[in-house]
Amino acid sequence: MKIFKSEFIKSSNNYKNCPQDNLPEYAFIGRSNVGKSSLLNMLVNNKKLSKTSSKPGKTKLINHFKINNSFFFVDLPGYGWAKSSKKERRSWLKMIKTYLTKSQKLSLVFILIDIRIPPQKVDLEFLNFLGFNKIPVSIIFTKMDKLNKATIEKNKTKFEKEILQKWESSPTLFLSSAKEKIGRDEILNYITDINNSIN
Ligand code: GTP
Ligand code: MG
Repeated sequence: MKIFKSEFIKSSNNYKNCPQDNLPEYAFIGRSNVGKSSLLNMLVNNKKLSKTSSKPGKTKLINHFKINNSFFFVDLPGYGWAKSSKKERRSWLKMIKTYLTKSQKLSLVFILIDIRIPPQKVDLEFLNFLGFNKIPVSIIFTKMDKLNKATIEKNKTKFEKEILQKWESSPTLFLSSAKEKIGRDEILNYITDINNSIN
């Protein structure tokens, strides 16, 4: 898919305030600092579209970006940011989970996982939450530029094994690096296929 247009539409603090354009939505979720906003920018070839930061907790609202006038990318705040207050974490989680369960046009949720970090309880819980709510999910490993090939494979296999303890089959997995623009074609092709199956 060629990205010819990507525009910020709005930030919402509640699913009720989200754009009502009736277009398919692809949401990016994962722990703070995993690289959600960076990946979104890499996919659309615009480093400045969604704000990124080396400090966790940058994205705080539900951000809708309209792509090629035909679908939305939705950048979400991270979960599991240890330095935020418990109250803040709880209210973000509620905002995210309500959006994910109420949104009528959610086509797919990408859970982003830092390839360097072993399976985390919070990620597996989130994956189970999506499964329980029958929300289509796919996993994108991020920051693969930081590891060698063998370690990437080892960590990916470890994660898959963990998933298969609860799931009958693993969701589709992608490897990516926003820094080195890896995974872009695979992820965009996957989205194209889903968009085509809707129309
Ligand atoms: P929150 O909005 O706080 O939840 O974070 P986020 O998941 O949106 O992360 P963000 O995209 O802001 O990136 C966090 C940090 O990781 C930044 O310093 C990015 O430059 C860095 N980063 C993101 N993706 C990659 C990657 O693929 N490779 C490398 N080396 N660094 C990355
Ligand atoms: Mg972000």
